[in-house]
Amino acid sequence: MTKQENVLIIGACGQLGTELTVALRKMYGEKHVVATDIHCADESFKQQGIFEELNALDGQRMAELVNRYQITQIYHLAAMLSAKGEQNPLFAWKLNMESLLNVLEIAREKKLHKVYFPSSIGVFGFDTPKQNTPQQTIINPTTIYGISKQAGEHWCSYYFQKFGVDARCLRYPGLISYNALPGGGTTDYAVDIYYKALEQGTYECFLTEDTYLPMMYMPDAVKGTLDLMHAPAEQIKTRTGYNLAAISFSPKEITKAIQTHIPEFSISYKPDGRQQIADSWPDSINDAEARADWGWQHQYDLQTMTEDMLVNLKKKVVLV
Ligand code: SER
Repeated sequence: MTKQENVLIIGACGQLGTELTVALRKMYGEKHVVATDIHCADESFKQQGIFEELNALDGQRMAELVNRYQITQIYHLAAMLSAKGEQNPLFAWKLNMESLLNVLEIAREKKLHKVYFPSSIGVFGFDTPKQNTPQQTIINPTTIYGISKQAGEHWCSYYFQKFGVDARCLRYPGLISYNALPGGGTTDYAVDIYYKALEQGTYECFLTEDTYLPMMYMPDAVKGTLDLMHAPAEQIKTRTGYNLAAISFSPKEITKAIQTHIPEFSISYKPDGRQQIADSWPDSINDAEARADWGWQHQYDLQTMTEDMLVNLKKKVVLV
């Protein structure tokens, strides 16, 4: 019989964490999944299973929790995103790097089975090919977030080569979802626009109308993450980061998609500092390796995602 897996999630109350926690609890049973975050305002989420407070910079407490719950896998999701990171670069670096090193050291010492580390399209820069960006290409990130993700990918690969830590990593595009909000990224407009469409009927976008970015609906991101983590180790051919793609669109195109459901919805454009970050990132991503190595497939396109987002957000927000 294979050993029971016990999973620790760091950053469980974030945009991705809330959804992965639910999926992992379903998969392993709620007694075998320990959700942690520095704080969590959502009491009902905390009560759905085991929840512990954890500052990802506190390696000692992280190790205690790993011992106490006999953890075998860590999903390390806590990080400061691109736009917020630019407001406090030194702390963004500290948080994103030191927390990962805590995780990797614990994984090495305690011989954990697996570690998951999310990377991002933020690793790419101005000189990266913009269309259909390959996995192996010029990587010169422009934000501290991107630099920390690039370095993080290499730390994961290093711990794999040197110590056999089975660390796995995906470069997510912008993630779109209707549960927890994203926390200060450049792709956040593509979440906010749905809320504003329903709540106010109008949206002021911080990117120009033709700024294309790679994006993905949350159910696809959760599926991709779990597929990667459950693939046999010999199928994981990349120990830095796998490109992962689904859709690519501009603010103008998402507006059109929303207008097919809410014809009176209007948008205006007021680009700010996030425009420069977006301009340094790819328009679209080539994820041929993920598809070939472990069978990645996405399900949602812009239309099906828009329909699902609006149906679910209508239950949540106060309509105009
Ligand atoms: N969604 C992230 C951000 O915009 C990119 O990975 O910062």
